[in-house]
Amino acid sequence: MCGIVGYIGRRNGADIVLSGLSALEYRGYDSAGIALLDETGEATLLKQLGRVAGLQKLIDETTLQKTPLAIGHTRWATHGKPSVVNAHPHSNADQTIFVVHNGIIENYVELREWLGKEGYHFASETDTETIPHLIDYYYKKTSNFEEAFVSAIKEIRGAYAILACSTMAPDKLFAARLSSPMVIGVNKDECIVASDPSAILQHTKEVVYVQDNEMAVIEKGSYRLVDLAHDKQVQRETEHLDFDINQANLGDFPHFMLKEIFEAPQTIRLASLGRSNASTGTVKLGGLESVADQLRYIDRIVIVACGTSYYAGLVGEYLLEEITGIPVEVQLASEFKYRNEPFSRSTALLAISQSGETADTIAALQKVQDYGVLRLGIVNAVGSTIARMTDAGVYCHAGPEQAVASTKAFIAQVVVLLLISLKLSKNGDNLYQPLLEEIEALPGKAQQILDQAPAIERIAKKYKKYRDFLFIGRGYSFPCALEGALKLKEVSYIHAEGYAAGEMKHGPLAMIDKDFPTFALATSGPLLEKTCSNIQEIKARGGVVVAVATEGDKLVAKHADDVIYIPKSLEQTEPILEAIVMQLFSYYVATAKDLDVDRPRNLAKSVTVE
Ligand code: F6R
Repeated sequence: MCGIVGYIGRRNGADIVLSGLSALEYRGYDSAGIALLDETGEATLLKQLGRVAGLQKLIDETTLQKTPLAIGHTRWATHGKPSVVNAHPHSNADQTIFVVHNGIIENYVELREWLGKEGYHFASETDTETIPHLIDYYYKKTSNFEEAFVSAIKEIRGAYAILACSTMAPDKLFAARLSSPMVIGVNKDECIVASDPSAILQHTKEVVYVQDNEMAVIEKGSYRLVDLAHDKQVQRETEHLDFDINQANLGDFPHFMLKEIFEAPQTIRLASLGRSNASTGTVKLGGLESVADQLRYIDRIVIVACGTSYYAGLVGEYLLEEITGIPVEVQLASEFKYRNEPFSRSTALLAISQSGETADTIAALQKVQDYGVLRLGIVNAVGSTIARMTDAGVYCHAGPEQAVASTKAFIAQVVVLLLISLKLSKNGDNLYQPLLEEIEALPGKAQQILDQAPAIERIAKKYKKYRDFLFIGRGYSFPCALEGALKLKEVSYIHAEGYAAGEMKHGPLAMIDKDFPTFALATSGPLLEKTCSNIQEIKARGGVVVAVATEGDKLVAKHADDVIYIPKSLEQTEPILEAIVMQLFSYYVATAKDLDVDRPRNLAKSVTVE
């Protein structure tokens, strides 16, 4: 989704903003732009469709030398199609005020109407363009840019991260946020502002997060925060971000998606490191210690999440219910927030999010804010909004995930859900020790699957020609089948649906013919024979089947057209291994079709609008 980067300091702002925008490219965008102030305070505005690299060419065509202040943006269209005029920064008529914005201004129609009556004209179709005109309106009344900025922000309703600059205040940047991330990196003599810390980290790890309903006035090496609800200054020191910048590089891999799939063994290790120990039989989750007393009284857990995180939540439902006996419900965050349902104080809300910035998941947490319930999080992005707004939680420690399609985060989320289940089981469950031991064996088993990548690639190439795909599984493999279908459709654009294998006769079987293949999760366990019957039913109707089976199994190969074997594991941990197979399969189908696998069309990495 949209990305914001701003710079004020002694170096060349254009270079720093462009490199920051490049670091945010993975989030997906359709256009980009930059506003630059040179040493005399003169402004230049450059915008274009397509990649950030094109902005450098536009800058090279100007006579600009040094730009100590710059704000830039990558736009993922919401209001108005992708076009140069809709790209950010937006400005007032005489190009003295520039604004970049992430989020949505909900009352922009009424603001436009009102400003229109005041004589303002709009060049774009965007909601964002109201902001520079609003600031302009108030500046004309007060001749004080900071006051004008505050007045404009107070008029706006919606969700936003806003960064503004002006030739009227050429030594400052002005930022404001509500439900959309904004972080300031502070160095001696300079500050870098961004919507995501990955745009800042190559310059500094000392950061301060702007909070909801706050504005920041940012100068060279310093910042001032103001609580807009109470019109008072806020003191907040910088914090040190513990983040390895090398993790954000591609290395020898052709795509981030493949790199991140290949990080699976490491992901499992990092998610469980220092947390579970089979030899001592212990699970320690530091992030939950502060709420240990409350957790004792929880009699229902509602998991909220979107997309892949939602499917991890469904695996979590099976795990938590089987291991802890606590009833669990998993809801799509986008549905949860508009539903009226009874919610008692002994219910815990557990939000799962890779980015920690997903608007719907944030809204779900906001919905229960006044219910007095425990709000927990499983988040990958350290310091993200969801991580900060929950009462307690467990980080995934998967490192930055750059490909739009989530892979290693799913693996880490399931591992963390397993650890939470074990923690809440109070050691009483007979699965406790075997699962602790299995967690330690999983990285090696994940590696064995990765070693089969060339074979999986060969199989995937055979299936790239199909237009539809069905994914089926039973038990723990059912939610995993749903995730497999999502992975294939988002990167290969093949229509794919996930189904519980037992549902085949209740409808989906009607679709089966030679052109509608099935990906069957048929690993060994109590339900294998039933899944094999489903495979036979599909074959009997002329269907084609790729199956995932357990090493040593002889049954599945008798019926399926292609079989990919995974090492024997426990039913509860199989989703982790099956997911790796399906991620590789989807990746190779998409690359065989020559698609942009890291940035699938129409998608963005972090969905910060509803
Ligand atoms: C799919 C994918 C998305 C995300 C979803 C939630 O591969 O990445 O479905 O899982 O947008 O995102 P997070 O986990 O960041 O809340």
